[in-house]
Amino acid sequence: MRKPAPRRVAPSAMPRVKPISRDEFDRRRRQLMKTMGRDSIAILPAAPVRMRNNDVEYAYRQDSDFHYLTGFPEPEAVAVFVPGREQGEYLLFVRERDPARETWDGRRAGPEGATRDHGADDAFPVNDVDEILPGLMENRAKVFYTVGANREFDQRVVGWVNSLRAQAKHGRHPPHEIVALEHVLHDMRLFKSKAEVELMRESARIAARAHVRAMRFTRPGLNEYQVMAEITHEFSRARADTSYQPIVGGGANGCILHYRENDCELKDGDLLLVDAGCEFEKYASDITRTFPVNGRFSPEQRALYDIVLEANLAAIAKVKPGNHWNEPHEAAVQVLTAGLVRLGLLKGRVPALVKSGAYRKFYMHRTGHWLGMDVHDVGDYKLGDQWRVLEPGMVLTIEPGLYIAPGTKGVPRRFQGIGIRVEDDVLVTKDGRSVLSSGVPKDPDEIQALMAAA
Ligand code: GLY
Ligand code: MN
Ligand code: MN
Repeated sequence: MRKPAPRRVAPSAMPRVKPISRDEFDRRRRQLMKTMGRDSIAILPAAPVRMRNNDVEYAYRQDSDFHYLTGFPEPEAVAVFVPGREQGEYLLFVRERDPARETWDGRRAGPEGATRDHGADDAFPVNDVDEILPGLMENRAKVFYTVGANREFDQRVVGWVNSLRAQAKHGRHPPHEIVALEHVLHDMRLFKSKAEVELMRESARIAARAHVRAMRFTRPGLNEYQVMAEITHEFSRARADTSYQPIVGGGANGCILHYRENDCELKDGDLLLVDAGCEFEKYASDITRTFPVNGRFSPEQRALYDIVLEANLAAIAKVKPGNHWNEPHEAAVQVLTAGLVRLGLLKGRVPALVKSGAYRKFYMHRTGHWLGMDVHDVGDYKLGDQWRVLEPGMVLTIEPGLYIAPGTKGVPRRFQGIGIRVEDDVLVTKDGRSVLSSGVPKDPDEIQALMAAA
């Protein structure tokens, strides 16, 4: 037997939270195959390696659907599910062991490791996939496959079906239907298991710590990238990665929704908007906090902040089983519009302004999205033409904001250049909700106290 690979993590640094167990991966596969039925086969490729420039690769990130079903971390792999197949229902095609390549690129499981360590019933070299797959498809009516996600692989699947068609007169029967695999998988992924929730809690805990660290660190004269460095340091030391490029926007940069430069000096008297989340064991957090660079909100900043926070709390209160997807957004829009009228930034009656969408001048995005392995996670928001009803196990963000860009017509100068968002990660529970990102303050007095104590 091969010598076991060295432990990747020193025991003292082991995370408190367990990764997804082999049993759980197995349960997911069985659930998928039950939904598919016996006359079908599912095919799912691993994420391709992507080049950053010349011969340098981007850090490899496994495809979320592939990970969800296999937990197999390598590229150039294909998972195949064949319900009811006597010699094994779960097959993995993987790279063969190759000491020379492994010296350059790292360890490979090989077919032997795929069965021994990753739960595959049977495994083959990935170079043999063209030879073996048509035979597995034969006499199966449906192919569950996600079309359009990987163009190159789409062509290969079509090629396998065609190769069977070409032999129809020899009695070989090709599948006659391609079914959207993602439709089944994404509905499964929308409902987080207990183990997934624990990983998401940990992901949010790490991100919350990073935000607290950023608040403590921030002062006038620093640069946005220095604050970002504090955040990514906190992620890395917890063995987490960024789940998207952090947004660290001082002053008017906070009004740019996907601000990415993160290279401006932080000015006394400005706010700083930090939207940063991590990915821990493949599960994302997504948190935004907005706080004063010098530790004290100005009256105008505080007035706008109080409105956004009120909208955040009102929207979170609408997260509970039985409410539909849009209710938190509707609550946020109501509060934001009423607040803008109070401050004189919108004129008219609140119901009419909500109806006309007048608030969109200052609030141009929606109040949240599903959260899971992908930061904008999979899952339908509507079923037919009805908003989806919230159910326990779903996780979503609540992220209202107000953005008063410099030069906005009809707005007093003192409000211009202020961008505020307050974003939390919220789990729907049996009784209501649990805010996963509660480890970082959002109450303005608490933020000021935390910054003053730094
Ligand atoms: N950070 C991306 C988002 O808030 O949706
Ligand atoms: Mn978000
Ligand atoms: Mn965000």
